[in-house]
Amino acid sequence: MEVAVVGGGPSGKAIERALLERGATVRLLSRSNGFDVLQADSIERLGQPDVIVEATGRFTMSRSAATDFFTRSTRAVAAAARALDARHLLLSIVNCELPDVQGYGYFAGKTAQERVAREESPNLTIVRSTQWFEFAGQNRERMKLGPISLVPQMTIKPVALDAVAGVIADLATGTRASTLTEIAGPEVTTLWNMTKQLPQARATPLPMPIPGRMGRAFRYGALVPGAEAEVLGPTFSQWLHGPAS
Ligand SMILES: NC(=O)c1ccc[n+]([C@@H]2O[C@H](COP(=O)([O-])OP(=O)(O)OC[C@H]3O[C@@H](n4cnc5c(N)ncnc54)[C@H](OP(=O)(O)O)[C@@H]3O)[C@@H](O)[C@H]2O)c1
Repeated sequence: MEVAVVGGGPSGKAIERALLERGATVRLLSRSNGFDVLQADSIERLGQPDVIVEATGRFTMSRSAATDFFTRSTRAVAAAARALDARHLLLSIVNCELPDVQGYGYFAGKTAQERVAREESPNLTIVRSTQWFEFAGQNRERMKLGPISLVPQMTIKPVALDAVAGVIADLATGTRASTLTEIAGPEVTTLWNMTKQLPQARATPLPMPIPGRMGRAFRYGALVPGAEAEVLGPTFSQWLHGPAS
C-alpha cells in the first residue's frame, strides 16, 4: 500500500507516523521538500500512490485567499486521483459548512474545498475532525500581537491529532471504509480553557469575543458535533500530562 500525504504540517506528520505504524509506504510531500500542489507538474511528481491524503493548509482569515488556496489544492489532488486511479482522503473540519460560520473566511474556504472535492473526486473520503488539542498552541502562535495572544471565544469538543491520524491511516490502508467520517474528542470545553492549561509562553493570552451572529455561533457551540461523530480519547488533560506529550 503506497500513500502520498500532501501537506507537511502537524497533521501530515502525524498521519505519516500512523501509516508507517500500519506498514504502509509513505511519501510526505510539501513545498519544504520540493512539492508544490499548486504547480502544474504536481500530478507527475506524485508517483503511483494507491491513496492520496490531502492535508494542506494555509492560515488566513480572508475568504478569497482561503477559497483560492483550498479549492486549487483540491482540484489538483482530485485531478491526480482521477489520473492515477487513486483514492482521495481529504482532511476537513466538523461543521465548517454551517451558514452561521461562513463569515469566517477560513471556514468558507474549507466549505468550498469540500464542495469541489465532492464534484471532482470520484473516489473520495472526507474525514472531518473537530479542533485538535494542538490547535490551542497553533492559535496562540497565529494570533500573537506583540506581547499578547488573542484567543477567540469558542466552545469546542477537541480531539487529539494522533487519534484523528489513526482513523485516517485506517481508512487509507483499508481496515475501515467510509465516504464521510466525523471525529470528536470526549469533552466539550472552550479554547480559552485549553489555552490557560498550556505551559506558559511569552505572549499573554487575552480572550477575544467575536461579534455578531458568527460570534454567537462560536460561543454557543456551533462547532460541537452531534451524536453522529465518533468520539475518541484521550481527554485534553491526559494528553497534556500523559507520558506521550
Ligand atoms: N488545526 C485544527 O485543529 C484542524 C482541525 C481539523 C482539520 N484541520 C485541517 O487540517 C489541514 C492541515 O492542517 P495542519 O495544521 O496540519 O497544517 P497547516 O499548519 O495548515 O499547514 C499545512 C501544510 O500544508 C503545506 N502546504 C501549504 N501550501 C502548500 C502547497 N502549495 N503545496 C504543498 N504543500 C503545501 C505546508 O507545508 P510547506 O510549507 O512545506 O509547503 C504546511 O506544512 C488543514 O486543511 C486544516 O483545515 C485542522
